[in-house]
Amino acid sequence: MQPNLITQHIMNFQLSEEHLMIRQAARDFAQQELLPGVIERDETQKFPAEQIKKLGEMGFLGMMVDPKYGGAGMDTVSYVLVMEELSKVDASTSVVVSVNNSLVCWGLENFANEEQKLKYLIPLASGKCHGAFLLSEPEAGSDATSQRTSAILNGDHYVLNGTKNWITCGNTASTYLVIAQTDYEKKSRGINAFIVDRNTPGITIGPKEQKMGIRASDTHSVMFQDVKVPIENRIGEDGFGFKFAMKTLAGGRIGIAAQALGIASGAFELAIQYSKERKAFGTEIMNHQAIQFKLADMATEIEAARLLCLKAAYLKDQHLDYALASSMAKLFSSKVAMDTTVEAVQIHGGYGYVKEYHVERLMRDAKITQIYEGTSEVQKIVISREVLK
Ligand code: CAA
Repeated sequence: MQPNLITQHIMNFQLSEEHLMIRQAARDFAQQELLPGVIERDETQKFPAEQIKKLGEMGFLGMMVDPKYGGAGMDTVSYVLVMEELSKVDASTSVVVSVNNSLVCWGLENFANEEQKLKYLIPLASGKCHGAFLLSEPEAGSDATSQRTSAILNGDHYVLNGTKNWITCGNTASTYLVIAQTDYEKKSRGINAFIVDRNTPGITIGPKEQKMGIRASDTHSVMFQDVKVPIENRIGEDGFGFKFAMKTLAGGRIGIAAQALGIASGAFELAIQYSKERKAFGTEIMNHQAIQFKLADMATEIEAARLLCLKAAYLKDQHLDYALASSMAKLFSSKVAMDTTVEAVQIHGGYGYVKEYHVERLMRDAKITQIYEGTSEVQKIVISREVLK
C-alpha cells in the first residue's frame, strides 16, 4: 500500500471547541470587515491594507508560528478553517494571509536560524508587517529549477541580479524570501534562498499587474540589479534553496487549496440563497430539478474538497508526509472552485453576470487557484510521481 495514498490514519472529524471559535471569528471578520467594500476594492484594485492590519492583530498572519516567535500557535486545521471563511468573501485578502502564513512564516520558522527568526520572523508572524515569496520568473514558472536570477558570492555578501514575476505583495511586503541560482551547473542543487529587505538598494518594483481575478491583491514584478545581500541572510546550507522552496510550497498548497474551497463554498452559499428567493415558472427556482441537481453536485464536490484539505492539514499537524495530500487537495479544490463558480453564475442567470451579486468575482478569482503555487499540471506531476514510485 502506498503511504498516505489510502488513508491509514483514522481521522477525527469532530472539530474542537477552539476550532469552532476560530472559524466563527474568521466568519464574523469576513462579514463585518471584508464584505463591505469588496466589490469596490476588486474594481479599483485597492490593496486591503486596513483589513490585513486587523487580521494581523487577530493573530491570523502568523497563525501556526510558535508564540515565542510572535505567532498564534494554532494548528493547520485552524488555518484551513480560516482560509475557507475569508475566501468565501474576499480571495484578494485571503491570498495575503496564505502567503504570509505558509510560505513566509512557515519557511522561516522551519529553516531559518535563530538569529534570522528573531530579526525577521517575529515582526512577520505578529502581523506588524507581511512578506512575499519570490520564486517565479519570466522563464521559470512551473519549471522552477531553471531559475535565471543569479546570486553570486562576493566576500561576505551575495550579489543578486534578475527579475521575479507575478509576486503577491511585491510592493507591500517588507521582507522578501528570494530564490536564486548560485551555480547554474548544479541545477536544483545550485539554488539558494535569501531573506531580503524590500528597501535594499538596487531593488525596483514593476507596475501593479492588471489581473482577471484577486484584483485587490498586490501583484508586481520585482527587479534586482546588483543587490547586495549579506551571507548571513542565506537560509540553510549553500544549495538548499530549491528544497526550501519545494518543502515550503507543499504547505503553501494547503492554503491555496483551502482558498479554492472557500471560493467554491462562498459561491455555493450565494447560489442556495438566490435559488430560495428567485421565482421562475410560478415557483422559487430551488423547486426545479434543474437547479436541485446543480446544487447537489456542488454540495458533494465541495464536501470532498473540504475533506482533502482537512486531510492534508491533519497529516501536516501529525508531522507526517503531506506533499502528496496537499497537491491532491489543491488540484481537486481548485477544479471544484472553477466548476462551482461557473454553475453559481448560471443559477443566478443575468444577475450572476453583474458585480452586485458577487458570483462573477468569485468565478474570476477561482481561476488563479489553478495557476499559482503550482499549476494543476504541476500538481499532477507531483501526484503521478508519487503513485508511480
Ligand atoms: N520536498 C523536498 N524536496 C523536494 C520536494 C519536496 N516537496 N520536491 C522536490 N524536491 C527535491 C527533489 O528530491 C530533488 O532533490 P535531489 O536533487 O536531491 O534529488 C530536487 O528537489 C529537484 O526535484 P525535481 O527533480 O523533482 O525537480 P523538477 O525540476 O522535476 O520540478 C516540480 C518538479 C514539481 C515541477 C517543481 O519545479 C514545481 O513545484 N514547480 C512549480 C513551482 C511553483 O509552485 N511555483 C509557484 C510560485 S510561488 C506562488 O505562486 C506564490 C504566490 O504568489 C501565491
